[in-house]
Amino acid sequence: MTTEKDYVLGTHDEEIERLGLQHRVWRPKATDAWQRAGFTVGQTLLDVGCGPGYATLDLADIVGPTGRVVGVDRSRRFLSHLETQLELRGIGHVETVEVDLDDAQLAERLPAGIDGAWCRWVFAFVQDPKALLVRVAGALRPGGVMVIHEYFDYSTWRLIPPSPAQELFVGKVMETWRATGGEVEIGTSIPGWLGELDFSIESVRPLIEIVGPRDYFWEWPKAFVDVGVERMRELGSLTGAEADSVRQALADAERDPRSLMVTPGVIEIIAKR
Ligand SMILES: C[S@@+](CC[C@H](N)C(=O)[O-])C[C@H]1O[C@@H](n2cnc3c(N)ncnc32)[C@H](O)[C@@H]1O
Repeated sequence: MTTEKDYVLGTHDEEIERLGLQHRVWRPKATDAWQRAGFTVGQTLLDVGCGPGYATLDLADIVGPTGRVVGVDRSRRFLSHLETQLELRGIGHVETVEVDLDDAQLAERLPAGIDGAWCRWVFAFVQDPKALLVRVAGALRPGGVMVIHEYFDYSTWRLIPPSPAQELFVGKVMETWRATGGEVEIGTSIPGWLGELDFSIESVRPLIEIVGPRDYFWEWPKAFVDVGVERMRELGSLTGAEADSVRQALADAERDPRSLMVTPGVIEIIAKR
């Protein structure tokens, strides 16, 4: 019997690899946000919903051995991936916490008085994102900073010229995501909640790209299609024929160097407690 806590996209090896590629493509944007948020040497930072820990390792580099990073997730498989990396690299200032972010005991499991929290593509999956925000806010010291990357408009993900198969896929992903209790476009709610919690919004901006098949950024949605189409088929959200047509639409677009892709709209929020 497995006790692994899956999420809608799975915690299998292909998803661990996909999250790695995703982080490499997004690393410049994450690093830029962390710098503007003032993340620096000696701080204690939280990686909320850290997954396999790709960003956690970068945050560990930033704070250095005089600082501390705590990676929190409910997936044992993902946390084990991070723990293996920590051992291989001889990193001693990162801890993992295995807990469900929807669990009220999260508050007791987080260190108090942290300097900053990073949370990317996690509020969209939990059952009670507002409660999670309140719990993370409670762990931040006054003046502590939260950096958030979440979707605000998933339907911006389109091919140019448009492809009905690709747009069907985007619709099915949103539908399946919501059926598991998550809200894919949770980025539209977070600024208001931060206001209610008396955070000051230091910066808010859209992160969206229009890229061609030769761009590195193209690899991100491409990897999502590679893993996601199969996952949606397993979950019964796509028929075999629909899955094939989505793969075909992307392959056709990739063969034409004039194709463009608009990426799903991400909101970046930097907010101070
Ligand atoms: C799309 S991944 C993002 C991982 C990481 N933040 C990143 O940017 O690479 C979503 C993560 O949220 C975690 N997650 C989803 N729901 C959760 C919950 N209720 N409690 C804890 N972790 C959860 C998953 O296990 C997964 O690691």
